[in-house]
Amino acid sequence: MEKLIVHGGQPLKGRVTISGSKNSALPILAATLLTKDTCTIRRVPDLSDTNYMVRILGELGAEVERASGVVVVTANKIKSKAPYDLVRKMRASICVLGPLTGRLRKASVSLPGGCIIGDRPVDLHLRGLEALGASVQVEGGDILVSATRANFKGRTLNLMGKHGSTVLGTDNIMMAATLAKGTTIIEGAAAEPEVEDLANFLIKMGAKIEGAGTNRITIEGVKELHGAEHTVIPDRIEAGTFLVAGAMIGDGVTLKQVIPEHLRAVTTALADCGFKMEITKDSITIYPNPNARGFSLTTHPYPGFPTDMQAQFCALACVIPDSSTITETIFPQRFMHIAEMKRMGAQMTLQGATAHIRGGTPLKSAPVMASDLRASATLVLAGLIAEGQTEIHRLYHIDRGYEHLDDKFAALGAKMERTKE
Ligand code: EPZ
Repeated sequence: MEKLIVHGGQPLKGRVTISGSKNSALPILAATLLTKDTCTIRRVPDLSDTNYMVRILGELGAEVERASGVVVVTANKIKSKAPYDLVRKMRASICVLGPLTGRLRKASVSLPGGCIIGDRPVDLHLRGLEALGASVQVEGGDILVSATRANFKGRTLNLMGKHGSTVLGTDNIMMAATLAKGTTIIEGAAAEPEVEDLANFLIKMGAKIEGAGTNRITIEGVKELHGAEHTVIPDRIEAGTFLVAGAMIGDGVTLKQVIPEHLRAVTTALADCGFKMEITKDSITIYPNPNARGFSLTTHPYPGFPTDMQAQFCALACVIPDSSTITETIFPQRFMHIAEMKRMGAQMTLQGATAHIRGGTPLKSAPVMASDLRASATLVLAGLIAEGQTEIHRLYHIDRGYEHLDDKFAALGAKMERTKE
């Protein structure tokens, strides 16, 4: 295992190029199972999560070649059972369920475990597949889906759950519906940019989809899909993480290859705190503000403030000499970072699903433990501003979702080194 040692106090300056989106690449790689033709996906970030997905495609029988950020997949002959030992390592593997059901009318994928940010149910995914006429059983920890050609057909269904829409659930039903007979209307669909990016790839494969990026998606089933090429959109959460770093300890940090519209809720929140930004069609430059104002935010499905940026804003609140609050509505237990940051002297309290932070007190380095992906990146942010050297253990959490994070920060002037535990 590896750890990261972050030397605090080094101001960040310069340009960083944002990688392709993990949360777009994963379902798009799964979607290549929908055709026997060859698909080429570009700007796939080099992460352990995307590596797992590539391995799952291979285990399912697809031929997969990967050269740096380009993945070429030919899923000519595929099996319907996803390998348990890989699926259990990455819950996003659930997004092979829809393509396998659409292509083979049969699928067996292990039930994803919970994870550190809370229970991760898939009831909405299964409800959606049943609405399309599939029969769904859960046996021995496996989800077993089967459908006959006759009864697998499009319907109008609602995917809204008690915490709002489901991103991967929308992806799964949209992918399955591309090959179901007739019209499927998904009400209460997730509107995240990654869902829209997946739909754009499916349309290139010959799918008939309208409304992706809104809460109502219409899919006209077709007999089969063909191969296609696609470049994954930039990772808006990686971009948001660097924006927060630039606000916390930057002296002019420019993000290249971003889509500012995808970050509107984040840049609006930063502007409301008083951070100045220069925004062009594919870049954002952020400047520090020692007199920034506190914030009061609540996470919501897109286009609301993203849950995946909640932890990073808790770190930002530490440098704002004011009181801030952030309420988590998507994953109410997603506060693993609070205890770790309090070890560094952060003035934070948790009341229910609301974090209250009093900023302005300098943080001090301490050995801390990475946990969920975004909480781990937040500990790096805290280390950048803390006095002394902060040791972040269990670095694999960061490598799941951030491509070469330490190299990118080092290129901006941060001092950090990766060493063996
Ligand atoms: C996606 O997860 C992202 N992962 C998550 O990013 C992100 O936090 C999440 O969407 C919310 O935006 C990927 O895209 C790979 P959901 P997903 O289904 O689709 C509940 C990261 O850090 N729910 O939209 O699994 C669920 O418990 C990761 O990159 C049900 O109740 O999340 C949650 O409260 C973390 N039943 C809410 O809905 C279901 O069947 C939203 O979950 C499905 C979900």
